[in-house]
Amino acid sequence: MAQAWRQRRQASLFHPSKPNGEGMLVLGIESSCDETALALCDDGGEVASVISSQADLHALFGGVVPELASREHARLIGPLLDDLLAKAGLGPSPLRNVDRIAVTRGPGLLGCLLVGVAFAKALAMSAGIPLIGVDHLQAHLLAADLGNDLAYPSLGVLISGGHTHLYRMDSPVDMTVLGRTIDDAAGEACDKFAKMAGLPYPGGALLDALGRRGEADPDLFPRPYTHNDNLDFSFSGLKTAGLNWISQHPGAVFPAGSTPARERLGLAPQELCCAAASFQLAIAETLCIKARRALALFRPRGIVVAGGVAANSVVRAAFHALAEEAGLPLSIPSPALCGDNAVMVARSGWHMARAGRCHGLDLSAIPRGRAIPRDWKPCPA
Ligand code: KG4
Ligand code: ZN
Repeated sequence: MAQAWRQRRQASLFHPSKPNGEGMLVLGIESSCDETALALCDDGGEVASVISSQADLHALFGGVVPELASREHARLIGPLLDDLLAKAGLGPSPLRNVDRIAVTRGPGLLGCLLVGVAFAKALAMSAGIPLIGVDHLQAHLLAADLGNDLAYPSLGVLISGGHTHLYRMDSPVDMTVLGRTIDDAAGEACDKFAKMAGLPYPGGALLDALGRRGEADPDLFPRPYTHNDNLDFSFSGLKTAGLNWISQHPGAVFPAGSTPARERLGLAPQELCCAAASFQLAIAETLCIKARRALALFRPRGIVVAGGVAANSVVRAAFHALAEEAGLPLSIPSPALCGDNAVMVARSGWHMARAGRCHGLDLSAIPRGRAIPRDWKPCPA
């Protein structure tokens, strides 16, 4: 990948003034939760990327510990940049090749975001490179645009550990929220159900693995908050229904204190595999009910599904069926790009750069629950 980039660079696609924003090389930095990631993207997409996950550390506590997460980001981010630049083979003064520094500014855990934002500002200031603050949720959706031109407007379905949003996507840099969860996110519900079943954090992917070995019962769990005419979600009732099922089936879960290692998943009781399949079906169908409603609201030319939960096999199958029913193209990132990563941040920054947008060194980090301000400035030529 990095070699292909060097060939593109040598082929003079690049020139110093870049009047049309062409040939931009963008460094992306992601530190909003428990993944420290950096990536370089240019017009052709990913040039190089590195990622370090803290999942095993937080699994010891059953969920992300914000203080530990930000300390880990601060420890890892510098060495990871060295790794990235070495991997990309950018030569002796690697940052001189970088045209923009894009960093996730929110939403996320504030302490974690601040590590990435402060690091990005230091790089931008010392190397004289314009800074771009990226909306993490919109970046997730743009992971679907790598190697696959999206049609606009599109319906964007963002499903992650902390958020469940429906978007009208008018362009890569103009997106409007149509609906959102009023309580738990889809990923949060999966993680809680998995945790109560005795699986380690984060349980979403393990639930997926269990569900593949069971048959879904469509009547086992509700399709919550669908008997209304809005586009919002509420997954807390489904989470409670899942927890009730677990308390009524003590023999079907892993006993407390014996959290199974991933390789012990094969010992899971069949009843639990069926419940896992049913729980995911309830999530997938609930998402599709609201997405179908949003499709009727405007006339999108495509559907984009992204975020950690978009890696889920039942969710992917449900949206493939919905897209076919609607006669629209479906774009979902590869499972590796559904979760948090910096390629999506660099890609989002690349689109912002193309639109002539960037931020000053006063860029603020925005925690979960607060809107991302539209405070970009025109970028210096
Ligand atoms: O987008 P993401 O990596 O981080 C946030 O921005 O939140 O999403 C993480 C979430 C977690 O809840 C995780 O359990 C869930 O995505 N997840 C899955 C799968 N892979 C990750 N949920 C269901 N099935 C999966 N295969
Ligand atoms: Zn995310």
